[in-house]
Amino acid sequence: MAYSDKVVDHYENPRNVGTLDKNSEDVGTGLVGAPACGDVMKLQIKVGAGGLIEDAKFKTFGCGSAIASSSLATEWIKGKTLDEAASIRNTEIAQHLSLPPVKIHCSVLAEDAIKAAVADYRAKQPKASEAAE
Ligand code: FES
Repeated sequence: MAYSDKVVDHYENPRNVGTLDKNSEDVGTGLVGAPACGDVMKLQIKVGAGGLIEDAKFKTFGCGSAIASSSLATEWIKGKTLDEAASIRNTEIAQHLSLPPVKIHCSVLAEDAIKAAVADYRAKQPKASEAAE
């Protein structure tokens, strides 16, 4: 199967590979797996005081398309709000990378990983009502 140039580029020069401290209050971690193939993706976000995602890292144990999707996802979410990041659709990722139909689930993994990281971050924050007390 032929990969697009963008997939090969992200695969060979993945952006933002690494790990953030998952115990830190300002870090959200998403760990998701694809039932279809068993590939696993970890995506982490670090949220700044202004509510913007100031850093993002990933580690993906998976195919080239999954690595490219997570690399692209970390690039896209930096500088965004949590809502903006969580609204990124896998179809945008798949389109940008020109993924063939059989590789669409790899981009779904990236969308799920972003959402999981955002949810994890939110779950760590004190509830608004408690904070007001
Ligand atoms: Fe499963 Fe790509 S083949 S994530």
